[in-house]
Amino acid sequence: VAYRYLLGDSRREATRLRAQARLWDPTSRALFDRLGIRRGSRILEIGPGRGSLNLELRRRAGGPVDVVEPSAVFRARLARVWRGDGRGRGRVFETGLAEAPLPRDHYDLVFARWVFLFLPDPLSHLRKVARALRPGGILALQEYHRDTLGLVPRAPEWSDFLAADLAFFRSQGGDASLGSRLPRLLEKAGLDPVEVHPTVMVGHPRSAVWNWLTAYFTSVMPRLANYPPFDARKARSLLRRWREAEAERSSLLIAPAVLDVVARRPSRRRRRAARGPGRPRRPRG
Ligand SMILES: C[S@@+](CC[C@H](N)C(=O)[O-])C[C@H]1O[C@@H](n2cnc3c(N)ncnc32)[C@H](O)[C@@H]1O
Repeated sequence: VAYRYLLGDSRREATRLRAQARLWDPTSRALFDRLGIRRGSRILEIGPGRGSLNLELRRRAGGPVDVVEPSAVFRARLARVWRGDGRGRGRVFETGLAEAPLPRDHYDLVFARWVFLFLPDPLSHLRKVARALRPGGILALQEYHRDTLGLVPRAPEWSDFLAADLAFFRSQGGDASLGSRLPRLLEKAGLDPVEVHPTVMVGHPRSAVWNWLTAYFTSVMPRLANYPPFDARKARSLLRRWREAEAERSSLLIAPAVLDVVARRPSRRRRRAARGPGRPRRPRG
């Protein structure tokens, strides 16, 4: 499948990712607390970007963490921060997930935040990751359920804007709202459910939440204008209303819900039990 990562690794995008991480890393750390990561765990992080959570995973494991990261810019930054914590260099897969030669039956934990929403055919990617887990190993993903996204007061262009937001991801085979589809996809990939945990952030103008959402959507607005019925005129009008809303302190931005979706690869014994004892042999003769 022809696939191009939509957001790139420009300096502006790296700055946006840093502010986004500051806002959201506590939610990921709370997830890591619930997972109870042990020292010495074998961990793979897919798409670590600037790597704030990669450092956190390394700290909890007390050693290196493998990564899949296709961006050379982000890999160079990771190499720098790894030198800082002295925990060594994990295995680095310098490709997209589809091309990475992952080991089989190996990882205690595979983690990714905001990566699978970009990928075409998420089920085949999930099957690949499931094979890389050891029996009993955990897959933990953080992805959006887009439907809570709202501006209050609502602008007349809003529903066309929401459709364009989804169409933009779909243009490369992705699904911006993948989070709520994950439980079913993980089941199809042969994993057992562990938890689905939501976080919905809400903010008034000038809050960190308001600024995070506004920075992202103003940066992609010219590209969203390519997805009808949204267009350049509606994009300009929406940005004007967005700025007007920003001048009223009671206005609100409601973020897409982030779902922590966790699943486990069944242990070998459980898988045999699930298959059943097998057909009784027919007596010969
Ligand atoms: C939106 S950023 C999220 C970064 C980081 N996980 C975070 O939460 O801050 C998406 C990341 O996925 C990486 N990525 C893009 N395409 C990928 C692919 N096919 N396989 C693995 N990672 C990919 C990007 O280079 C980037 O690091």
